[in-house]
Amino acid sequence: MAQEYRRAFAQATNDPASFWLEAAKDLQWDTAPLIAIDDSRKPLYSWFPDGQLNLSNNALDRHVAAGRGENIALIYDSAMLGSVHKYSYAQLLREVETFAGVLVARGITMGDRVLIYLPMIPQAVIAMLACARLGVVHSVVFGGFAPKELAARITDCAPVAIITASGGIEPSRRIEYLPAVAEALSLAQPAVKDVIVAHRDGFEHEISEYQNQPINGQNITWLDWDQQAREASPAGAVSLPSTHPLYVLYTSGTTGAPKGVVRDTGGYGTALQYSMNAIYDVHPGDTMFTASDVGWVVGHSYIVYAPLIAGATTVLYEGKPVGTPDAGVFGRIIEDHKVTMMFTAPTALRAVRKADPAGQLIAGHDLSSLRSLFVAGERLDPDTYHFATELFQVPVVDNWWQTETGWPIASNPLGLEELPAKAGSPTTPVPGFDVQVRDALGEELQAGQEGNIVVRLPLPPGALTTLWGNDQRFIDTYLSQIEGCYLTGDSGFLDEDGYLFVMGRTDDVINVSGHRLSTGAMEQVLASHPAVAECAVIGLADALKGQRASGYVVLKSGVAIEHDALAKEIIALVRQHIGAVADFREVTVVSALPKTRSGKILRKTMRQIADGKEYTVPSTIEDVAVLDDLVPLLRPGT
Ligand code: COA
Ligand code: AMP
Repeated sequence: MAQEYRRAFAQATNDPASFWLEAAKDLQWDTAPLIAIDDSRKPLYSWFPDGQLNLSNNALDRHVAAGRGENIALIYDSAMLGSVHKYSYAQLLREVETFAGVLVARGITMGDRVLIYLPMIPQAVIAMLACARLGVVHSVVFGGFAPKELAARITDCAPVAIITASGGIEPSRRIEYLPAVAEALSLAQPAVKDVIVAHRDGFEHEISEYQNQPINGQNITWLDWDQQAREASPAGAVSLPSTHPLYVLYTSGTTGAPKGVVRDTGGYGTALQYSMNAIYDVHPGDTMFTASDVGWVVGHSYIVYAPLIAGATTVLYEGKPVGTPDAGVFGRIIEDHKVTMMFTAPTALRAVRKADPAGQLIAGHDLSSLRSLFVAGERLDPDTYHFATELFQVPVVDNWWQTETGWPIASNPLGLEELPAKAGSPTTPVPGFDVQVRDALGEELQAGQEGNIVVRLPLPPGALTTLWGNDQRFIDTYLSQIEGCYLTGDSGFLDEDGYLFVMGRTDDVINVSGHRLSTGAMEQVLASHPAVAECAVIGLADALKGQRASGYVVLKSGVAIEHDALAKEIIALVRQHIGAVADFREVTVVSALPKTRSGKILRKTMRQIADGKEYTVPSTIEDVAVLDDLVPLLRPGT
């Protein structure tokens, strides 16, 4: 049993160089690599140091050259507009080479950074691939982030241009992007020269409002995408070193400062193509529907790059799992586009079940094309697993990974063989990820014992190579704590059959509706309110969203403010500084926060109490009465 998987896992672990050089042959290289890995800068590694290639070429040109130009590459299905637009590979290539020509005409060149702040529209895919075509490093920022978060990313990666749209459409409102971009530029230290805007009808603000208005003393040119595209000459794919950065994708860490995960070119392409063969079993002729957002890693890997590199069709969905128009929309998309493989988040499935407990709206569609459903972003709880398995009648696969790794660390490898599933486990480590569970001192734990989940170095191709401009932060955060290992920040255990169980984060990162957020960043915002002396934000279990953020504040002495009014102000502040995506709605005023004698707030104990779990009071607690006073607030009814 499990022979294919075991063989692949053993080869990737025992002889990674041969394993990955073989896998790399599935890409089209300008110079094929002879060397698998460069370990001269340990603990930093780079894959295929002597290879040259281009991922836009691998995603588009090579399929057209192979006679598949008329195959559908991209289906843009907008539930918000009620429209569908399909692009063949030949059409998508034309759009990408033209927009690459726009970038060239603006003097943007290999190694420059371009920030992409776009809703789920085709221009997002086109802009990413156009950057990849030129070796321009893209950094996509999720549209739900507020200007201040956008500004932090502009300051960190210093883009020369921003590509945006007039706006995004949410069920409850229209999001005007141009004022948000202008505000972010005013808050950042920008090197931005151009803002290129994809026009969408129905938005208030036009680029003409921003022309000739210096921001921070700098002249910025605001350009219309379509007009520039009409004047541009198509640009060819530039041959790039495999190690050239393809993109920077920011993710939340423990502190307020986002971490810029850097992905290379050849290693990433190789890993994605391998994942399509070994995990997802997606090939030319298949249609992959990943219901995520291009602003997240799942979107980068499995809306944009992997399906196109594999020569399949990808669905770009602008809408929600429920309410646009109803909880049957996933079924409608599967039926309309003959989807063979779907990817979503547990929270989306829970939202469907809440709106339509028996899943009748989805089940009413023809789902016969579907072969598998993959789920990632947070742990797939057993209830949701059973609900989805019954509803879709296909293998439902829990995928565990992170922005940092770029592709799954643990998954049922359906492309190799289907392993028996265990509810609550993402199955076994993927070939290339040598996963171990270690205690705080770095000792390996036995089967069944919970500890830090680590991956032995080197990480396989596709994982982050560093943090943007900050090798030391990469080493300090991930590579220094357990010798020779990458620390995932998740805790869990391996069972006797080698199945992994991921139980939660060991740090202050939380996951709200599949969106990774930092409680530290929220605490900074709470602390900035003039009435707040100190605060704590913790992630509480939430039946729909997985987790929700809950804030506890201590008022400055002598401050008299009505608690409801204060809560409203703080909620508005979080929305303004971090964004609607934080979905921050709870503020409780407390007289003191429980701390250790060294002053560390006992967030974990607070979380355990609020979640109704057993908790132990640390022996280092400063004043146990503070905790006792807090229990009725954290756990009403006790
Ligand atoms: N741009 C601007 N605002 C956005 C946004 C975007 N791209 N995405 C979300 N928001 C806003 C929403 O409009 C909402 O604002 P509101 O408070 O003014 O209504 C807020 O952020 C929270 O939105 P959301 O997280 O979508 O919560 P919800 O309650 O509207 O919907 C779910 C709940 C579960 C349906 C939804 O979160 C969902 O589809 N989650 C799946 C996420 C996912 O696929 N993640 C990928 C991981 S693989
Ligand atoms: P992100 O970087 O946004 O993809 O978030 C990564 C984090 O989400 C991981 O470190 C986990 O804490 C959590 N996560 C993602 N997928 C899973 C999963 N399948 N099971 C458990 N946790 C998950």
